[in-house]
Amino acid sequence: MQGGLASQDRIDRQAGSRAWTAHPRWRWEHDRDTLMEDLTPTIAARERLGMSAAEISRIARQFGAPGRPERLPGGQGQSWKVGTDSGAIVVKPAPHPDEAQWTGPILSEAIFAPDVRVPRPIATGKGEWIEQDHVAWTWLDGGAMSGRYIQKIAAARAFHIGLRSLCRPNFMDRRNDPWAMADRVAWGEAPADYDAGSMAALAPVLEMIADTPLPRDCKEQVVHGDLSGNYVFADGHAPGIIDITPYWRPEGFAEAVIWVDAIWFSESAQPEHFDQVGMRAYVLRALARRIAEQPEQVKAGMKSADEASRFVNTLRNATFKLLEPWASG
Ligand SMILES: Nc1ncnc2c1ncn2[C@@H]1O[C@H](COP(=O)(O)OP(=O)(O)O)[C@@H](O)[C@H]1O
Ligand SMILES: [Mg+2]
Repeated sequence: MQGGLASQDRIDRQAGSRAWTAHPRWRWEHDRDTLMEDLTPTIAARERLGMSAAEISRIARQFGAPGRPERLPGGQGQSWKVGTDSGAIVVKPAPHPDEAQWTGPILSEAIFAPDVRVPRPIATGKGEWIEQDHVAWTWLDGGAMSGRYIQKIAAARAFHIGLRSLCRPNFMDRRNDPWAMADRVAWGEAPADYDAGSMAALAPVLEMIADTPLPRDCKEQVVHGDLSGNYVFADGHAPGIIDITPYWRPEGFAEAVIWVDAIWFSESAQPEHFDQVGMRAYVLRALARRIAEQPEQVKAGMKSADEASRFVNTLRNATFKLLEPWASG
């Protein structure tokens, strides 16, 4: 993995924790006992490798937060909430320093419509975006909510309008984590070369992709690559979008990822909420990406082959259901 990661254990720490967080609710609801057995060592390993509250406290002070760090539930388990004199901030690892260096100045200045709340990167007192491999973001009040696709899509659109004028950042070519690799496979920018079980699920999707052109006027832009589990809702406020992982893709693709992910969450998302032109093309690519992520995570040593194949099979079994509303267009 590139991007200045200093040691293998940091790679493992990041990788192992992502494996746990990809879709926690799906795991909980569908295969709870087996998965908890599989995951217990991962959680223990992650907590051993993660920074201590004392270390985070030292880092947070550089970002102007003197409070006592509280580890945040959810996500990779490596994000912390730390109080400031006027509220709170989030301190979390920066696995890709050049991504953090891009995100800092860009997202601290981007302008968004009031239909979405977006946290802002925070610089240290010395004006640095990264402190000891960690970044800081402003805190958004609220909590995760299932469903609510109308609001989630509306917020995603407002968020992406705010990013529309940005140029393609170079750091995207340097990310080699399993998510970036799978994304390239889904978009035909890297070959798919996986085990037979993964290929049995992936190859038919790639064939359909080859037969499903993108809409003629489709434009790529900076998008949030993993929106599904990264909303916060608070009464009386617009939805918040957190954990911003930038990709350079059409906006409809970011929405298609939400549609595909509804499968994991066992939620009944309504196709009419996802009314992008070219949605079939985007759903196919989102599905291919989620399938390819599984063997990529196995290759990266983040997941057992058995665990990955359970995920691949779930996606494979869901293929028809996911594509049914998008017979064309
Ligand atoms: N800026 C923020 N405002 C409010 N809550 C946040 C913010 N950032 C993260 N969180 C909370 O912390 C959890 C984990 O953070 P997240 O950034 O999503 O981590 P990860 O990169 O591990 O997925 C989120 O699910 C959310 O509950
Ligand atoms: Mg997250």
